[in-house]
Amino acid sequence: MSEELIIAQGDKEAKYNLLYTQIESLTHNENDTIAKMANIAAMIHATFGFWWTGFYRVVGEELVLGPFQGPLACTRIAYGKGVCGTAWKENRTQVVYDVDLFPGHIACSSASRSEIVIPIHDNTGEITALLDIDSEHLGTFDECDRMWLEKIVELL
Ligand code: SME
Repeated sequence: MSEELIIAQGDKEAKYNLLYTQIESLTHNENDTIAKMANIAAMIHATFGFWWTGFYRVVGEELVLGPFQGPLACTRIAYGKGVCGTAWKENRTQVVYDVDLFPGHIACSSASRSEIVIPIHDNTGEITALLDIDSEHLGTFDECDRMWLEKIVELL
């Protein structure tokens, strides 16, 4: 890894560390999930300046748009469709380096180039929602994002 990349990686780690502490203190006395999603989306978005940061909720057989920051987005996504529907079906985080190479990617915005989608579980292990983040740059998301974002959604 080049020196520049190591510094950028350390910077990202430090930002997530602080962000996690802020989200933890903001959410620990709140039990309304939608309100927490709204503030979590706002805080992640403001910290990193991503293109789109938001939640999709499992409602029956579909995902329905939840609180988000960024341009308007698709309202409903079917099970198994797109990156979000795939994360739901496969029950695992999707880290997409280049959305154009992801079969069935749903382009809510043509500016989106890379994406990460994290499943959110209730205490019985069922998926209740997903955190979806889009970047207008290729390859924005890596193991560091996956690790911290999976930890952050546990605060919901
Ligand atoms: N790209 C997503 C759709 C949601 S938007 O990115 C906000 C997908 O393929 O599931």
